[in-house]
Amino acid sequence: MRTQVAIIGAGPAGLMLGHLLHLSNIDSIIIENRAKDYVIERVRAGVLEQGTVDLMIASGVGDRLKRDGLRHDGVWLAFNGERHRIDFLGLTGKSVVVYGQNEVVKDFIAAREASERPLHFEVSDVRVRDVESARPKVCLQKDDDEHEIVCDFIAGCDGFHGICRPAFPSGFLQCYEKDYPFAWLGILATAPPSSEELVYALHERGFALYSMRSARVTRLYLRCAPDEKISEWPDDRIWEELQTRLGTKDGWRINRGTITQKAVTPMRGFVADPMRFGNLFLAGDAAHIVPPTGAKGLNLAAADVRFLTHALVAYYKTGSSDELNNYSAKCLKRVWKAQRFSWWMTSMLHRFGTANDFDYRRQIAELDYLTGSRAAMTSLAENYVGLPIE
Ligand code: FAD
Ligand code: DHB
Repeated sequence: MRTQVAIIGAGPAGLMLGHLLHLSNIDSIIIENRAKDYVIERVRAGVLEQGTVDLMIASGVGDRLKRDGLRHDGVWLAFNGERHRIDFLGLTGKSVVVYGQNEVVKDFIAAREASERPLHFEVSDVRVRDVESARPKVCLQKDDDEHEIVCDFIAGCDGFHGICRPAFPSGFLQCYEKDYPFAWLGILATAPPSSEELVYALHERGFALYSMRSARVTRLYLRCAPDEKISEWPDDRIWEELQTRLGTKDGWRINRGTITQKAVTPMRGFVADPMRFGNLFLAGDAAHIVPPTGAKGLNLAAADVRFLTHALVAYYKTGSSDELNNYSAKCLKRVWKAQRFSWWMTSMLHRFGTANDFDYRRQIAELDYLTGSRAAMTSLAENYVGLPIE
């Protein structure tokens, strides 16, 4: 098989890249080791920055997003039993859209299928070869047969546990890591949201987040231990804990319903530098992950893909590698700002293992300052709706 760009991974990064390249008449083959239904059903992120929304609409995959996406013009911060709103629209002129990552993936798979360009699920034993040469190769197994893709470039969009980043020669990559001593227990419930906008809460018992997916589905998160056993969280305990952490003095109550999914999400910050070796380029979680407070992961993947598309289009149009050479530095500049924001939101809203009352009171003071200062609220809002994609 021969193509211009071999894309490893059909998560948001790989699918978006394949679609944007298609619109620029650049050939690609996307390979994915999981089954199509598994990729579509994986419940993950839910908040799209305006730039990600614009990308989907401008590239012709925004119809369902425009119909079903929930535009949010602000967000609530809850502490001391009270809620304070951050008005994104008023402070920045921008909003975010709540639309599940699985819906994003579904839309891009549909666009790929309509383009009739190759997208192969359930491949195995994926390996990259000769990435420093002008003819890099991807080898794989499909239905017990061995295949080889010869290409100009490989896009490593295979997530944090993929094979592309480990294929960089040892010592070439500088990896920066931050571990957080807690995790999130996330649930999906069939219950109409009882708040129109998201609520991030700091409570003595720990962080909680109120989010949603539609007029009928609520998405909620609780801070928990990294090794938390889901079996110790029967539904009633989850609802009680959420009510305790998110409840306010005005008597606001969470609508309960049937819990359809429970999972523990670990928290880590990670950045690999550079995001390129030879003709192998990393994008999205393959290169960096952020703790989820602030919902940046999926949006960072979308920004990388935009930069990479521009660079590849410039290369095929003009023969110039300048933008490809700038790719990593350009992405990482933005990635570090999102890493900083996610770290700051996480630190402000979570009780750390070693924390004492001093830290808690300092956190409350920070939230009190933040919600009383237009300058501080603008800073949060600017980052939350998404920093510019230059
Ligand atoms: P991925 O979505 O990980 O996609 C990578 C794809 O590559 C996968 O489909 C994988 O199966 C495939 N793959 C892996 N190895 C191979 C291989 N060898 N060959 C072929 N294919 C391969 N972000 C938020 O903003 N908010 C959240 O609430 C949130 N929750 C999350 C919960 C979990 C459990 C996880 C893991 C992530 C969460 N994130 C969240 C982060 C967000 O979902 C990611 O940033 C986003 O999925 C990144 O997209 P990606 O395409 O780079 O990587
Ligand atoms: C969601 C996830 C996040 O990490 C976040 O900060 C806000 C919302 C969500 O899944 O809806």
